[in-house]
Amino acid sequence: MLATLLLLSLSLPTLWTQILISCAYKSLCQQALLSGNDVVLQCDHPKALWYYSSILEEEPLLVSSMPNIKKLPGGSLQLTNPQPSQTGLYHCQDNESALVVDYELDFQDVTTLHITHKGLGQKPLQNETLKLGTSVLIFTQWEPWQDCNRCGKPGERKRLGYCYIEEPLEKPMPCWLYLRVEKVKDSRMRPEMQVEACLVPCDHFKEINQPYFIFDIYQLGKLTNIWLTCPLASIYR
Ligand SMILES: *[C@@H]1O[C@H](CO)[C@@H](O)[C@H](O)[C@H]1NC(C)=O
Ligand SMILES: *[C@@H]1O[C@H](CO)[C@@H](O)[C@H](O)[C@H]1NC(C)=O
Repeated sequence: MLATLLLLSLSLPTLWTQILISCAYKSLCQQALLSGNDVVLQCDHPKALWYYSSILEEEPLLVSSMPNIKKLPGGSLQLTNPQPSQTGLYHCQDNESALVVDYELDFQDVTTLHITHKGLGQKPLQNETLKLGTSVLIFTQWEPWQDCNRCGKPGERKRLGYCYIEEPLEKPMPCWLYLRVEKVKDSRMRPEMQVEACLVPCDHFKEINQPYFIFDIYQLGKLTNIWLTCPLASIYR
């Protein structure tokens, strides 16, 4: 059957929040994120200076030269619509060149997101081994399930998963931070989202935690030309 499953992710303005990434003082934190989703990297130093070095091991650049990146008054860094090409090391230092915090970020390409719905019997990606000198394991590292999008009636919840690579006896790393300059094309290497049905009672004291987006699924037939308008939204197919 040639049915196309479209998943529309509507992010309502009232629910829109930027994802705040933080890391302990003088530490290096490594994290996978989805491209296209805004983030703020925390660095609490009003005179913070931020440098960026790509995974291609180029010289660090002062980030003020990058158009979609803005330093906030308290020192933190805001990245609007970050792209997979902006994967790399974000280094925050104080006015005396001492490290405040380092973030090593892998912006995984949201346009390759593999979406599966448990209720439709769709399976997430399988683990795969890849020969790269040594044999490494490619797998999905899942975030916890987000809250159900409704209460007191059937709803849905989702979780995001990121591509990770694990060498035997080593700590797993986000795929593109592991690979660095190595050019590997493998269709297993993509972020994932899994959806499932849920039914939870209403608890008025609890705030619903649904970072990223809320969404609806539309089953569409064989299509030639369609236009979808979806203000303030992302569309995944
Ligand atoms: C850095 O800032 C602190 C306070 O914000 C100040 O006391 C110190 O002199 C500054 N150092 C330099 C090298 O400008
Ligand atoms: C895939 O690999 C990960 C990491 O080693 C492991 O936690 C997970 O259980 C594996 N999944 C399957 C289905 O084997």
